[in-house]
Amino acid sequence: MCAVPVPGFDRPLELILQVHRRIEHRCALMGRLVEHLAERGCDADARATAGHIVRFFDEDVARHHEDEELEFYDAVVAAAPAPDRARVAALVARLRSEHAELQSLWADALRPQLVAVQQGRVAWFGGSEIERCHSLYIEHTTRENDELLPLAEAFLTSAQLEQLGRGMAARRGRPYP
Ligand SMILES: [Fe+2]
Ligand SMILES: [Fe+2]
Repeated sequence: MCAVPVPGFDRPLELILQVHRRIEHRCALMGRLVEHLAERGCDADARATAGHIVRFFDEDVARHHEDEELEFYDAVVAAAPAPDRARVAALVARLRSEHAELQSLWADALRPQLVAVQQGRVAWFGGSEIERCHSLYIEHTTRENDELLPLAEAFLTSAQLEQLGRGMAARRGRPYP
């Protein structure tokens, strides 16, 4: 669905940025799915699109949050020079709490509705929790792109980037790079 070349695990910050772009793409796709359901009902295209979105969030986004929570966030805080460390730690604490809210919105609101569409059991999805999940994903990835990735580029050494990339590969059972 996104024919963009995938960077290797030796370019972990580019990989993180690429997942953010894919999340934004899937959020836009969800908006189009709402319109499609209203105009054409729960046809085969709608069911396939819903299934595609569910797999993406269950697999790719779950791994991505693990990359950030298990390794990336702490690596950036630890690498920050002392005068900046408290500010970076506060940013990371906010990002972690956004992950928790996103996970509960996904599991409790968005995923059940998308699965119902995938299975052809409903012809509509939406509501305030879906809108909140959609807008928070965009806010969250924008905050990571604009505030955290520039700090990672500034502070992480090539050895630390390699460690991050090796961890990402290992969690996916893939070779490095
Ligand atoms: Fe994140
Ligand atoms: Fe992220």
